[in-house]
Amino acid sequence: MQYVSYGAEGTAESMRLTEGATPTPGLGEILIEVHYAGVNRPDVAQRSGNYAPPPGASPILGLEVAGRVAALGEGVAEWKVDDLVTALVPGGGYAEYCVTPAAHALPIPLGLSMAEAAGLPETWYTVWANVMDIGRLKAGERLLVHGGSSGIGLAAIQLARHVGAEVIVTVGSDEKADFCKAFGADHAINYKECDFTEKVREVTKGEGVDIVLDMVGAPYMKKNLSLLRRDGRLVLIAFLSGSKCEFDFMHVMVKRLTITGSTMRPRTVSEKAAIRASLARHIWPDLANGRLKTHLFATFPLAEVGEAHRLMESSRHIGKIVLQVRG
Ligand SMILES: NC(=O)c1ccc[n+]([C@@H]2O[C@H](COP(=O)([O-])OP(=O)(O)OC[C@H]3O[C@@H](n4cnc5c(N)ncnc54)[C@H](OP(=O)(O)O)[C@@H]3O)[C@@H](O)[C@H]2O)c1
Repeated sequence: MQYVSYGAEGTAESMRLTEGATPTPGLGEILIEVHYAGVNRPDVAQRSGNYAPPPGASPILGLEVAGRVAALGEGVAEWKVDDLVTALVPGGGYAEYCVTPAAHALPIPLGLSMAEAAGLPETWYTVWANVMDIGRLKAGERLLVHGGSSGIGLAAIQLARHVGAEVIVTVGSDEKADFCKAFGADHAINYKECDFTEKVREVTKGEGVDIVLDMVGAPYMKKNLSLLRRDGRLVLIAFLSGSKCEFDFMHVMVKRLTITGSTMRPRTVSEKAAIRASLARHIWPDLANGRLKTHLFATFPLAEVGEAHRLMESSRHIGKIVLQVRG
């Protein structure tokens, strides 16, 4: 099969199509003939040498795919050959075939294209795990999401509305702010034009927020803590601007805050299967009936994967970027 390899220098320019062995599904796994593969920021981090795959995972890039079940490993009863699925994969998505636990696949939601479906798993697994399971967002609460126009950010906007929570996002341009508001955000703040903490205080009449979903890290730490209300939760999912800083713990004690976070990829098969069960129950039906939206920004042929990564690194995109592997 063909897959995307990259050179030791880790640049987008070094990515190229390479011949390799087709993987074999093991116990409880399915082999997927990949039609589309989602591009995620962690792929850029892995290519650059900053995010090594966990032990046992494929070293090939790619954390989510949509395609056709091509073969079943031993013990798989819930899928059959030729089923069309979208799946979270532990690695290996940028390829003509990849394997993943059967328990991490979901059907293509009715009405969504295969390309759109390929961009669902990594963002929805991550957002559900961090905003619902860890962050415990409830109706009537207020969520602040940094990187509001990212794939993750748009899913978080949709989830907050789904739950009945208010959602405020920060973004790097007015165009992104307008898009996020049209996509369901109650407020969208262009952090390049103002101090987002002042603006959040203004739009919340000084109350602040219950949860912050953050991917920026160090420079936002003090600001995030200052904006959280009593019993607030800061959920860290990435450190795009650094992971080390100094801050005053006083806020944490006085306001009974929780500082937490998680990564998706190293979770166990059963932990991810539990998240899939929540998505299948609470999210997939509403993606199929149109109550929940997704936004596909651009599709690139697999051979143009370097262009796809350059677009992601430019941060010009809004929502998802996917690679067309077949068809
Ligand atoms: N913990 C986990 O399990 C997990 C899983 C998946 C993804 N993630 C993380 O979640 C984040 C979003 O992922 P994604 O694939 O949805 O990413 P994405 O679409 O590429 O979006 C990232 C956005 O972050 C904003 N940003 C803010 N500060 C930035 C900085 N210093 N450098 C670059 N961008 C910056 C940019 O928008 P503006 O220009 O508007 O600022 C950019 O568009 C990534 O950091 C990713 O690593 C974590």
